[in-house]
Amino acid sequence: MKKYKGTLIALLLVLVIAFMFIFKEKEKMSNIEYTFSIIKPDAVSRHLESEINEIFAQNGLEVVAFKPMTMTVEQASEFYAEHKGRPFYNSLVEYMTSGPVVVQVLKGQNAITKNREVMGATNPKDAAPGTIRAQFAESIDRNSVHGSDSPESAKREISMFFDYNEVTSK
Ligand code: RTP
Ligand code: MG
Repeated sequence: MKKYKGTLIALLLVLVIAFMFIFKEKEKMSNIEYTFSIIKPDAVSRHLESEINEIFAQNGLEVVAFKPMTMTVEQASEFYAEHKGRPFYNSLVEYMTSGPVVVQVLKGQNAITKNREVMGATNPKDAAPGTIRAQFAESIDRNSVHGSDSPESAKREISMFFDYNEVTSK
């Protein structure tokens, strides 16, 4: 028995390291999130829905709920309530209700952060090349897409436009 003690300890150590590695990999792989996305009026009026969703797909973001609609003033005001009082709030609400949008839910690995990366900066002048806003946005106001900025926002925004069943059944 004594003869095998060293081998057994080494084997045990290898097993522990292997389990730790598998656990870490699984943890990395399992951070699947849902996030809320809007294709804004300027993009819908140019029929960019498929092109934008293709970019999401290429970046591992799957559209799991999709709803074309026109927002009411009440909906847009509540949706952007965090900006109430800011100089751009009224024009933002007016713009978001000016024509049809597509509200949708995206699912994927780290979907909330990923979506924000793929969208690009709020002002298209600052958006990184290749991002949706760099490619399609016309201005800081007409910037083609919205995306939730945190897990709390994602939860709140999804529930404003979708029932639980409409998302999870996909
Ligand atoms: P969003 O909520 O639409 O995804 O945009 P965001 O997070 O990148 O930017 P946010 O700060 O939440 O602002 C919401 C929308 O308001 C307009 N805005 N205008 N003139 C300005 O300084 C200004 N700042 C923001 C933008 O249209 C922005 O998308
Ligand atoms: Mg925002």
